[in-house]
Amino acid sequence: MISIEDFVEDIVGKAMRGYKISVQELAAKSGASSTSIAELLEGKVDESTITSIAPHLNLDSESLIIAGRKSWYPEPVNVKGLKMYNTKWANMYVNAYLIWDSSKGIAAAFDTGANSEQLIETVRLNDLTLESIYLTHTHTDHIADLARLQSSFPSIRIYVSEKEPIEGANLIGNEHNFSIGNLSVQSHLTWGHSKGGLTYVINGLERPIAIVGDALFAGSMGGGMVSYMDALKTNRQYIFTLPDHTVICPGHGPMSSIGEEKKNNPFYPEFKNN
Ligand SMILES: [Fe+2]
Repeated sequence: MISIEDFVEDIVGKAMRGYKISVQELAAKSGASSTSIAELLEGKVDESTITSIAPHLNLDSESLIIAGRKSWYPEPVNVKGLKMYNTKWANMYVNAYLIWDSSKGIAAAFDTGANSEQLIETVRLNDLTLESIYLTHTHTDHIADLARLQSSFPSIRIYVSEKEPIEGANLIGNEHNFSIGNLSVQSHLTWGHSKGGLTYVINGLERPIAIVGDALFAGSMGGGMVSYMDALKTNRQYIFTLPDHTVICPGHGPMSSIGEEKKNNPFYPEFKNN
């Protein structure tokens, strides 16, 4: 089973960095001690500390406590025409995805992960035509094996955000529409983790699919390295407006769904009925 990407300490750390709030400032605002906050950031879970600090970081305290207990894991996803590749990158794991229309035998890859050999094998075993690869963003772990894909499929077209150009790739922006056989796909600019991060929403399989890169994780999100506030905003705008049964395909950790993220993702307290 693929591990959940972020534990409570990662979530709290991302929110604190996002709001540029120090341990001392958070202690003063919340009434929790600096020591207990520092210990929480090191993974020592104390539920009263979580309850005190959560509202000051605009995090949902109940789902943050559940993250501390490690008691939630998303439902397994099994959709024909969607496959995830969880590949090892240094001391971590990164995901790539293949989407295909089995009626036409046409496929598109989304990111390469650390190693695209298994993705290439799926293409070959299912006798698919791999026409394109769409990149969610250009952090190295997500595009590490582009050269192998290109040499295996010399006519493959590479698409990337116009805000993160790379050599040899076609540049696309927000609301770019394309198709994979009979499947329709639209790009959405979910930036903030990276400068031009794109989410791809695919319709035509048995469930809608959102390939989100590091915009959102099961129960967390990528760090707001460029802009935390814009990462939250564009996720709310383009991801959390999708139907609840939409599959979330993140760049790290397991797949999830919009409905489950509304209930379990501490970064989006507005969907909880506390
Ligand atoms: Fe990333």
